[in-house]
Amino acid sequence: MNAATTLPHITAFLNAVSLGFLVTGFVHIRAGRKDSHRKAMLGAVVASALFLGFYVVYHFAAPIFVFRGTGLVRPLYYTLLISHVALAAVIVPMIAVTLLRAFRGRFDLHPKIARWTLPLWLYVSVTGIVVYLMLYHLYS
Ligand code: HEM
Repeated sequence: MNAATTLPHITAFLNAVSLGFLVTGFVHIRAGRKDSHRKAMLGAVVASALFLGFYVVYHFAAPIFVFRGTGLVRPLYYTLLISHVALAAVIVPMIAVTLLRAFRGRFDLHPKIARWTLPLWLYVSVTGIVVYLMLYHLYS
């Protein structure tokens, strides 16, 4: 086992943890539990930040993996991958603004951007896990 073979599993795990926090945080705020919402969303941010750290290390340690699937699954894989990477870049500043508004107590503005940030973040998280499963388990 080396960094290149271990890290994808660690990053996928952190991604799943972040997804769990996101869903939990959403359930909390819908139920009016603001403090639990804050804690869960900060958990999601920490898990995602760790994910990003390991992800960067991974790409220094390993070559880019070539997807081995053939046929119709190829365009599906690349559509998921490209949309995942593009939206991952988009959500980083959105998460920052969402957090900033919450920390400044601007709860009039926070939900306005959060209603975009949350579904996009969920999409990035879920597609990250699907891409991982396709690349390392289903078509390895
Ligand atoms: C980036 C992380 C976060 C995301 C994605 C997020 C997401 C959301 C969403 C989607 C809503 C609206 C829920 C609805 O439809 O009713 C909301 C509301 C709220 N969030 Fe967050 N949140 C985040 C971080 C935080 C933090 C750190 C705090 C506390 C410091 C916080 C406090 C609140 C409060 C108090 C509301 C209710 C506002 C109101 O309607 O009065 N959120 N959040």
